[in-house]
Amino acid sequence: MSENPSIQHLKELREQAALGGGPARIEAQHKHGRLTARERLALLLDRGSFREIDAFITHNSTNFGMENKKYLGDGVVTGWGTIDGRLVYVFSQDFTVMGGSLGEAHARKIVKIMKMALKNGAPVIGLNDSGGARIQEGVVSLGGYADIFLQNTLASGVIPQISVIMGPCAGGAVYSPALTDFIFMVRNSSYMFVTGPEVVKTVTHEDVTFEDLGGASVHSETSGVCHVAADSEADTLYLVRKLLSYLPQNNLEDPPFTPSTDDPLRADDLLDEIVPDDPSKPYDIKEVIRHIVDDGQFFEIHEAYAPNIVVGFARLGGHSVGIVANQPAVLAGVLDIAASEKAGRFVRFCDAFNIPVVTFEDVPGFLPGTHQEHGGIIRSGAKLLYAYCEATVPKLTVITRKAYGGAYDVMSSKHIRGDFNVAWPSAEIAVMGPDGAVNIIFRKELAEAEDPLKRKAELVAEYREKFANPYVAASRGYLDDVIRPRETRSRLINALEMLANKRDSNPPKKHGNIPL
Ligand code: HXC
Repeated sequence: MSENPSIQHLKELREQAALGGGPARIEAQHKHGRLTARERLALLLDRGSFREIDAFITHNSTNFGMENKKYLGDGVVTGWGTIDGRLVYVFSQDFTVMGGSLGEAHARKIVKIMKMALKNGAPVIGLNDSGGARIQEGVVSLGGYADIFLQNTLASGVIPQISVIMGPCAGGAVYSPALTDFIFMVRNSSYMFVTGPEVVKTVTHEDVTFEDLGGASVHSETSGVCHVAADSEADTLYLVRKLLSYLPQNNLEDPPFTPSTDDPLRADDLLDEIVPDDPSKPYDIKEVIRHIVDDGQFFEIHEAYAPNIVVGFARLGGHSVGIVANQPAVLAGVLDIAASEKAGRFVRFCDAFNIPVVTFEDVPGFLPGTHQEHGGIIRSGAKLLYAYCEATVPKLTVITRKAYGGAYDVMSSKHIRGDFNVAWPSAEIAVMGPDGAVNIIFRKELAEAEDPLKRKAELVAEYREKFANPYVAASRGYLDDVIRPRETRSRLINALEMLANKRDSNPPKKHGNIPL
């Protein structure tokens, strides 16, 4: 039986839309080791769950012969699907159509999806592969980007927004991701820059490659723009799925509960031994985290950026938590500009999405020096302080060793509404470390001492005994308890359950003024 002509026509149009810029350009995309927009969605979403809309949209531009350059869908595939059975909205830019560049119609499709996501309370995931504003459409493209930026901002803190950079992204194609919660990149295949190497050469006479200007390594290690990087497109999309498993669908929901076979009462003897007796010796806080959380699973964010602080997601007794931990194995876990900003942003994300924050603290203080002071450590440190003060989600803190100076206050202390604050017996809590403290308060005495070295050793020992322990803080109620390290897991899970119905709020206001 021959098919109804109108249905035949629909089929042909669908086939045409599915081909994007055509077979030759698809082949070129594959030759670069990159997948097409639709192939990527197939990897990201649950099998068969993708429902496309607006596949027949085209642009209306007539500039520079554009009337003869129309492609169904206008270079972006949009719709919704599921990840582990949970609804997500998606857009995937098609580099085979005019380099994935964004014109008016392309922008309208993305905005439509974002509005639907906001109204229906589900995450938006954008797969970005775009040369930015479509040059032939002029200001209309710029307007399209501004419409997207506005939606990004309105959706911020309401639904999770995730950006995946999957090709060379320039101009507006990087600013929209920058407004979202997490940016993923593919190593050696994706790039982000406001202006590309050619423009850089013209303006600054610098010769720079795509990779050195805006590759995944640069953005993961140096700029901090990228939160997670992986070696292939498939791995990157798999990690996006994994991240979502820790997040709620929107700010009115709690994060998903994922039961585990890991015993909530499991005690871990290694933790009793992990902090070295010598306070100047490092240990790896990630090992501590892995020994405490469910099944040792820790999803790290910003792994290569400011590694003196560690942030990421894990589960405790099935409850999703955000973890912030000073890393004594890198720069002694000191707080500097980058670490403060990294952790501050993470705490705010967790607070916006009802994810309790668990803080592991071992910090000698803020990093001294002109580089830090002139770079604005005062402002950056204040961001982290502000983020912790403002957060109303359950806040649990474990001081494993040093909690010195302002950093003691900042790292989720009792005074800034910490809900459950405990320390290991190895904790040292004071205004500063024994050495520095003795140098300052006994300067005169040391200068006059017969044997200054011997006297200093005595004074350091005295100071250490007095302050370098958790019991002064515990006697004031600044710590709720001093616990054996091996029982940390069970105590944290118990506290999380105790805090499950926590309600707290901040005074009504339009918004605060975080020191940006
Ligand atoms: C229209 C574009 C385009 C654009 C690429 N193409 N970018 N068309 N507008 N912005 C087209 C190319 O003409 C080409 O078409 C095809 O896409 C593939 O591009 P190539 O250059 O061949 O690919 P490649 O060598 O991989 O380089 C990719 C690229 C480069 C790095 C993205 O194309 C590039 O630098 N594009 C311009 C980037 C840019 O400056 N965009 C404007 C930013 S301003 P044909 O048909 O020849 O194959 C902006 C404003 C918003 O976005 C700012 C908000 C704050």
